[in-house]
Amino acid sequence: MPIASVTQLKLAGKRVLVRCDFNVPLAAGKIADPARIDASLDTIRYILEQGGIAVLCSHLGRPKERTPELSLKPVAEYLTEKVGRKVGLAPDCIGDVTGRMIAALKPGDAILLENLRFHPEEEANDRDFAHELARGKQAYVNDAFGTAHRAHASTAGVTAFIPERAAGFLMMRELEALRAVTENPARPSIAIMGGAKVSDKIGVIRNLMSKVDAILIGGAMAYTFLKARGAAIGKSRVEDDKLELARELMAEAERKGVRIVLPSDHVVASAPEAGAASQTAAEIPADMMGLDIGPATIEEFKAELARARTVVWNGPLGFFEIPEFAHGTLAVGEALANLDGVKSIIGGGDTAAAVGHMPWASRFTHISTGGGTTLEYLEGQVLPGVKALES
Ligand code: 3PG
Repeated sequence: MPIASVTQLKLAGKRVLVRCDFNVPLAAGKIADPARIDASLDTIRYILEQGGIAVLCSHLGRPKERTPELSLKPVAEYLTEKVGRKVGLAPDCIGDVTGRMIAALKPGDAILLENLRFHPEEEANDRDFAHELARGKQAYVNDAFGTAHRAHASTAGVTAFIPERAAGFLMMRELEALRAVTENPARPSIAIMGGAKVSDKIGVIRNLMSKVDAILIGGAMAYTFLKARGAAIGKSRVEDDKLELARELMAEAERKGVRIVLPSDHVVASAPEAGAASQTAAEIPADMMGLDIGPATIEEFKAELARARTVVWNGPLGFFEIPEFAHGTLAVGEALANLDGVKSIIGGGDTAAAVGHMPWASRFTHISTGGGTTLEYLEGQVLPGVKALES
């Protein structure tokens, strides 16, 4: 069912509850990466320009009770700087004091509510808590794509009490990018899958088999597939209890005419440690482990991508946290970013962390702000935060 965009709401003079995903990494009490906040700025500015009163809310971390280190104070300060007007922090997300602060606001004003998860009722999607959150608001805008896979009070329950609801610009951009992969993708369509475990990606691989022409597999999960095919993988990380599943997935792909492309060479070392002596190998020696895709594989993956019109990427292709083993991920990323005429959709989480800060990353069609949400969407699951916006 369709969902409305924030542009379809009449916002002037209305108090608008805006669910954002300000769950940003903090280091020593400071925001280490504001990308998620930046991604919602256009929605916030739009609501203020329209004369709405923006009552912003978010979770931060996974507190089970009030936890001062997980206060949204740094986010309120950052917003004040970026929005160009004072964004005060309410001491709580519900309650009389907060209610009075909101009531004192004028059209074009904004306030940030304190961390929603200081109340366990948020994650429990508690009806009374959702009702309290909705109190005094005339419209609801959800821009928290990164939390849309959670059925929480602020992402789902609250919509029972605020009939006027819509998606923010970030939510719309994210959904549009994912639809380009799952609904009639321009062909050839390719998925790049990486990361440590096959078990995390089974649902995505299965679901994408009916939407892509090839799946390029890297990361540690490639070794489970390679072992299942009988290749020597030395002491590479492997999920022995998933070998049968890997065989089933490869057989299913063959039946559906989807090519599964595994690495043909590797960067190997004796341990996943910075400074460990590494070498390139097609056959992984018994005392070594594969930690990145090798140069021949990089070229093979690049050649596949050069033919593609749609590419979705989920998971790094090597142990990218250690620079020696990040080369495959970066080389494939740079090649993809520089291709013309291809829609490149980069999953959030580790994939965005691995390539999102590179100078060429702005050339991707879209980098998602939601790792978990993207994964669930690509598995074909319904996102409760999106479902709740349907009219
Ligand atoms: C995320 O960082 O993935 C989202 O903000 C959701 O957070 P959660 O996994 O703690 O629900």
